[in-house]
Amino acid sequence: MAAERLVVVTDPIDASALEALRSGPCRVLDASATPTELARHLGDAWGLIVRSRTKVTADLLAKAPHLALVARAGVGVDNIDLAAAAARGIRVANAPGAAATSVAELTVALYLILVRGLWGSVVSTRAGRWERGAHGHELAGRTVGFVGYGRIAREVARRIVPFGARAVAYDPFVPRSGDSTETMALDAVLGAADIVSLHAALTPENRHLIDARAFAKMRPGAYLVNVARGALVDEAALLAALRSGRLAGAALDVFETEPPTSRELLEDPRVIPTPHLGALTEEGQRRAGAEIVNEVLRALHGEPLASLVAPPGGAR
Ligand code: MLT
Repeated sequence: MAAERLVVVTDPIDASALEALRSGPCRVLDASATPTELARHLGDAWGLIVRSRTKVTADLLAKAPHLALVARAGVGVDNIDLAAAAARGIRVANAPGAAATSVAELTVALYLILVRGLWGSVVSTRAGRWERGAHGHELAGRTVGFVGYGRIAREVARRIVPFGARAVAYDPFVPRSGDSTETMALDAVLGAADIVSLHAALTPENRHLIDARAFAKMRPGAYLVNVARGALVDEAALLAALRSGRLAGAALDVFETEPPTSRELLEDPRVIPTPHLGALTEEGQRRAGAEIVNEVLRALHGEPLASLVAPPGGAR
């Protein structure tokens, strides 16, 4: 009988998903608590289950001659060298919808905190002041401009329209939204939006898409919300836009380097920073674990995969 295939879990996944994986036709090595273990087992690994901590580089793949599947318990695959995986015939799968609700809810919460100026009120009240002057705005009547109009942005749009906000979007892969959101060119979105909300996958082409040029196109006093990937934004240009008053504030769940090495953005009073927790609700993680383990089990049983990620240049 052929030896059972080895699936290495390199980043923490939901406990019940791990249990379901252990009942599958494979050996499971949970290396999530000791990531250095991965190197010792790459030579035997048939499958990897990763989140964003493990960087699946061409070098790593070259050390895994039996690897057939990289399974990403989440949506972003920018930590996986898709071209190198495709060149080795390694399939990549993800769990694209698992945390859409969690990220969308966080996004709406950030809009409300930003436009209402709540962050400053919490800080000043805690400091013993009682500042009750009118400040902030309603979300009603604001325009939200989505950069990237995939699953998560659509979930956000669905939630903000009942608030009375208007939604516009730029997505080079989505010519028409199919809902009430009007699609337009990037500069038109930047010029129309009171809140620019980033939801694009990170690719080599859109790194620093939101740079000094983009900030100059934004409305004076606009807000930036980034719950997608830090490298979509040129952080030095963001800091300059905040300091010059061009931007009224920013809410950042993601940073170019995580954890961030520079404290300048973290300490700016106009910035609301959170530690990349958009997907990290119990529900989101339970779904991500279950979806990705089901995908691995399908692969082990030789069944077609539901969420194959296309290699660069492949069909989207
Ligand atoms: C995702 O891509 O699924 C989220 O950003 C969360 C993560 O990176 O793990």
